[in-house]
Amino acid sequence: MTLNVKFDAVALDAVAARLGVAEDAGRSRTLVVFAGKDLAIADAAKSLLSGVQEQISRAAGVAKFKGKVGSSLELLAPGGLGVSRLVIVGAGAADGDESEGSKSETDTKSNDFLNLGGQTAARLTPGGEIIVVLDLPDRSFDPAAAAQFALGAWLRSYKFDHYKTRKKDDSEKQEPIEVLLGVANAAAAGAAIAESAALAEGVVLARTLVNEPANVLSPTEFARRASELMKLGVEVEILDEKAMAELGMRALLGVGQGSEAESKLAVLRWNGGGDAPPVAFVGKGVVFDSGGVSIKPAASMEDMKGDMAGAAAVTGALHAIAARKAKANVIGVLGLVENMPDGKAQRPGDIVKSMSGQTIEIINTDAEGRLVLADALTYVVDKYKPAAIVDLATLTGAILVALGQEYGGLFSNNDELAERLSKAGVTTGEKLWRLPMGPAYDKLIDSKFADMKNTGGRHAGSITAAQFLQRFVGKTPWAHLDIAGTGMGSPSSDINQSWGSGWGVRLLDRLVRDNYES
Ligand code: BES
Ligand code: MN
Ligand code: ZN
Repeated sequence: MTLNVKFDAVALDAVAARLGVAEDAGRSRTLVVFAGKDLAIADAAKSLLSGVQEQISRAAGVAKFKGKVGSSLELLAPGGLGVSRLVIVGAGAADGDESEGSKSETDTKSNDFLNLGGQTAARLTPGGEIIVVLDLPDRSFDPAAAAQFALGAWLRSYKFDHYKTRKKDDSEKQEPIEVLLGVANAAAAGAAIAESAALAEGVVLARTLVNEPANVLSPTEFARRASELMKLGVEVEILDEKAMAELGMRALLGVGQGSEAESKLAVLRWNGGGDAPPVAFVGKGVVFDSGGVSIKPAASMEDMKGDMAGAAAVTGALHAIAARKAKANVIGVLGLVENMPDGKAQRPGDIVKSMSGQTIEIINTDAEGRLVLADALTYVVDKYKPAAIVDLATLTGAILVALGQEYGGLFSNNDELAERLSKAGVTTGEKLWRLPMGPAYDKLIDSKFADMKNTGGRHAGSITAAQFLQRFVGKTPWAHLDIAGTGMGSPSSDINQSWGSGWGVRLLDRLVRDNYES
């Protein structure tokens, strides 16, 4: 997984020295600095710009540039400065002033640098020499801020253009952008940036998995790509249909039985935490959800290539955790199937026995995600007795009705785990909103013919789906994240322009960092 920006962290006086050297012929130099509220520029940047202060204030006056977040000012060939292009990126007020317009109450200072990294990357093109002076007015700077900045730049510059055979110009060919990053503490910043590359790679991996079409990304191909984590020291085990049948995973297998593609269960294990009990992440990996016999309408059915965003997030998180050698034990389980209608497909009315022994009446073959997760959850509970389980799934359209694309839905049988996840959501900006669960909702999935049915009727669709999953986790602390609204097709942001958002990778990595590392 390659990142499209290369950072070389250097001391601020090294930047000054570099600017004293004439530009290379044919390789124009760009200098990026940041301005706070009312065009405030921090000391180190200011001294570099001493020869062009007057030009900056005049240009800013003409452009009405005041340093607001999301705005920028560009000066071409300014006299008295050895650069072809000077870009001043607005960083707004240090404390996230509401009047800046792009902050929400849950934004934090660290997200400031993340988003700034994204905004900066958006203004850079490959080819020339690029110098960024990461010195901000009235904002304390530490190596973690540099790491957030780099992460934001990496995430912003990700592009999925693998299948575009005609690329117009250089900026569309993914040449890396090389950045000389001037910072206060270059050695520490460089190390922090290197560590956050692991996380960026994890997010980018998840995005690519979501973006890939299902004719390429079959369950077998997904399992193969997940197996590449072995290079990072992750133990990978792939169960095929025969192995799953022996374990009695009839709920999962029933979903895949109408597809030509073989179903798989991928188990990823990162053992960095000694003998602590593991935390387990379980992902819905429906590589394509046609609905099966209860077939979906044609409109937007192509989006259902992204119905494996949960499994993608788990894979990306395991990548990040292993690549940064986290001191934690983490298990990832991916339920990989394709939901298709054919002569062998599962029918409404069928009754299947899950690995747990509980029986399920299929009312609607389009409520397939919970069937896949049921057996994946039983497997991980039985085999690994995890300290906590978090499952991620593009599970219900109803969560989009409830929360839109702003928040992921959070359901849990454990307040502490729910709290930890919510907190990680605030820190990363991958926000969660907890919804209720309870026996009254649970009743809605009781079945006339079996232990339960796979849909609960029109009301509270996301909650009855969560109640269904809860029946397979026993007493294990568990949380379910419904990411149907956040995992794909999210509106573009400072740090994401891709259809597949990679949502959940940063959240899970943060959850592990803050709670499960020794
Ligand atoms: N994969 C879908 C949910 C989905 C919808 C994800 C839109 C992303 C965007 C899921 O398998 C599904 O079809 N759910 C049904 C459940 C219903 C039949 C009880 C739904 O939400 O309509
Ligand atoms: Mn479905
Ligand atoms: Zn689905």
